[in-house]
Amino acid sequence: MSIVQKLLLLIPFFFTLNAHCITKHTELSPGNYSNSGVVRCHYKVKGRHLSNDQIYQRLNKYSRHIDIWTNNDHFIDFQTHEDLFKKINKISKTLDANCEVMIDKLDSLIKESFPTNRRDHGLFNEILRDYPNRNVDIFKVINTRNIHGKLSEYFFQDYRDLNSLEVWFHVLTQWFPDILNLQDLGSTFENNHLYALEINVNNKTSNPDGKTIVITGGTHSREWISISTVCYVMFQLLSDYESRINNKANHIFNSFNFIFIPVLNPDGYEYTWTTDRLWRKNRQDTENKECPGFDLDRTFGYHWQPTWEYPCSSNYNGKEPFIAKESQLLDQYIKKKFGPDKDEMLSVFLDFHSYSQEILYPFTYSCDVLPNDIENLLELAYDLSKSIRKFSGKQYDVRQGCKDRDADLNPAAGSGSLLDYMYDKGARISYQIKLRDTGNHGFLLPSRFIEPVGKEATEVMKTLCDFLLNPTTWMS
Ligand SMILES: *[C@@H]1O[C@H](CO)[C@@H](O)[C@H](O)[C@H]1NC(C)=O
Ligand SMILES: *[C@@H]1O[C@H](CO)[C@@H](O)[C@H](O)[C@H]1NC(C)=O
Ligand SMILES: [Zn+2]
Repeated sequence: MSIVQKLLLLIPFFFTLNAHCITKHTELSPGNYSNSGVVRCHYKVKGRHLSNDQIYQRLNKYSRHIDIWTNNDHFIDFQTHEDLFKKINKISKTLDANCEVMIDKLDSLIKESFPTNRRDHGLFNEILRDYPNRNVDIFKVINTRNIHGKLSEYFFQDYRDLNSLEVWFHVLTQWFPDILNLQDLGSTFENNHLYALEINVNNKTSNPDGKTIVITGGTHSREWISISTVCYVMFQLLSDYESRINNKANHIFNSFNFIFIPVLNPDGYEYTWTTDRLWRKNRQDTENKECPGFDLDRTFGYHWQPTWEYPCSSNYNGKEPFIAKESQLLDQYIKKKFGPDKDEMLSVFLDFHSYSQEILYPFTYSCDVLPNDIENLLELAYDLSKSIRKFSGKQYDVRQGCKDRDADLNPAAGSGSLLDYMYDKGARISYQIKLRDTGNHGFLLPSRFIEPVGKEATEVMKTLCDFLLNPTTWMS
């Protein structure tokens, strides 16, 4: 499909499709969350926490429709039907915790996370009016009128579905043709493209080794803020670079190549728009026809192990490593791109997720093994956390990945993560960053947070690059 055709597809999308998605999603039972909510349980004794399977086992007698959203050594968040709200005291006893209802109307939060027709579409209309016929060179018009700032402002007002993100990627490659390359890593199970946006100013003097920073989002499809944030950071750096008023952005692009993969799980992401807003895995067939999908973040082939999970579980990792199409494609790409005989060098990796405001460092597969770069990883993680606190006042905790995956209780649960895989592939600085919030909206962060969280993450990126460029305390 040509870019012009894609852009034309975008026009009806922005005006009509958004409302359509919401309707479709409530019609179907998999995505029907009416009368559902989220319960938070604080463990009574810190450090005496339960693994996911222990929690499911204990809550099984109340309901089999429970989905753990987060589980760490302080608290558990799980989504459930509101019938259980009445039994909250019993549940507290069962889990040896203090439980309370955190979100009582899940479906209204879900609605709120989709774009609405309430918003003023006037601006976008105005821009589109500049292209009355197909023969106009759209991108030239945008450049001469310098409208692209406005278009991007509009773009980041709402979450965007897969189709409009792809249009956006194509638009960006037209705006920054000299330095941005849109790379198709291959087709997913449902024949979507897995795209990487490669930024390379090719300054051999200041980046002789081709040091590269890889940034991913959307591993878990319901974590929409991770996708918008990767897009935001990328756009912010590109436009700072282009405007040339910001020496720091120039210096950053001269010193590092970037690879942005905003939607690592395109099939799952599409499904969250059409059918089930809270879908987490990919959409690939498993051995159970009723229950498709693998949890991508458990499918990578570094310290991979089988778990007790079954195909219907939202954490299912399959029967062998790299079973998911997306992790295969990423693995092929990383191997092709980086290696001893290649002129690019994998150097830093950031994997954005949500929610709970945490900076996680390797390893996830074990709490007993520390990475060789632990001093740098810790020092920089606390620097990043501090820079966020100074910028927006938000507290991001620094933890080892294993703690987040309850690998201290159940080692197999921490296996096969993308974080560990990329660290092993040579990204000596590797973090998984779980963005806002701390639970009031959970995975359903409203679109008004796209910009503030995007700015927060841009700040993280700048602090990270400062650290790498001024290695005064760097231990090698
Ligand atoms: C969603 O489920 C509720 C029961 O929890 C039911 O009353 C309602 O009709 C369902 N909505 C749709 C659109 O299927
Ligand atoms: C390469 O990067 C350095 C450091 O940022 C800069 O001074 C120099 O002008 C750059 N060279 C080119 C050709 O852009
Ligand atoms: Zn996640």
